Amino acid sequence: RIVYVNGAYLPEAEARISVFDRGFLFADAVYEVTTVLGGKLIDFRAHMARLDRSLSELKLPTPASHDELLAIHRELAARNGVDEGLIYMQVTRGAADRDFLFPPQDTPPSLVLFTQTMALRDKPAARTGIRVASMPDLRWGRRDIKTVQLLYPSMAKTEAVRRGADDAWLVEDGVVTEGTSNNAHIVTADGTLITRDLSHSILHGITRAAVLRLAADSGLKIEERSFTLDEAKAAKEAFITSASAFVLPVVSIDGAAVGDGAPGPVVRKLREIYIEEAV
Ligand code: PDD
Repeated sequence: RIVYVNGAYLPEAEARISVFDRGFLFADAVYEVTTVLGGKLIDFRAHMARLDRSLSELKLPTPASHDELLAIHRELAARNGVDEGLIYMQVTRGAADRDFLFPPQDTPPSLVLFTQTMALRDKPAARTGIRVASMPDLRWGRRDIKTVQLLYPSMAKTEAVRRGADDAWLVEDGVVTEGTSNNAHIVTADGTLITRDLSHSILHGITRAAVLRLAADSGLKIEERSFTLDEAKAAKEAFITSASAFVLPVVSIDGAAVGDGAPGPVVRKLREIYIEEAV
């Protein structure tokens, strides 16, 4: 695989990042994951807008303009022959002697990108749905910033799989915040789509926004508010959204079937129209 590191396209074995990089030592870094479908980047400008927001909230320097970043995304996808998959981009505060104090603002940030070729459109989970297990949400208080502090989500997913599920839904004060790397949604018996409102508690998903737009266009009633785990277990349908999942049905929560335990019509329709719109 060819990766991008600070201006150079290199075979992954030749790529180098400093031991003193603050992304490595302090998780002092933000990232974006953008989808490639049919060779096309999906929602690139929205990802760049969120990147800018993450950078500015952490006072991280901007590594390159949006047009330069777009050119790097395209070049890397082409060099790796990615027709369907993901492009991961990370910006760190760069290398500096280890100190909790931020280094001087002129410390150059590190910019790293790599690709992952994978089937996104046709995956078994779209037909079978996924099972989730609930876990307490023990992440920090600024989940709206897309940082690389992913240890707890990684622990939660691993524990969910150990319990026989596919992923975790994180719960705080009795309400669902989101999945480990996706936004969580439910559909009630009367056909209303309920999704958590935007705040510092969740990541403002690009796929979430796109799916809500499409759902509203297709006449679905939408309520942006918190929902409890019990409400989710009693829902007719449930699903997740993310750049890699698109829209995936959730068919059980803590071992209890959601609806009749199979992907429902609203979720199947939303997945279909999302993919249709994306390609
Ligand atoms: N994760 N919530 C969290 C905590 C996430 O990490 C993600 C994305 C989402 C969905 O956001 P979007 O629709 O913009 O992908 C929600 C990416 C895919 C990842 O970490 O791999």
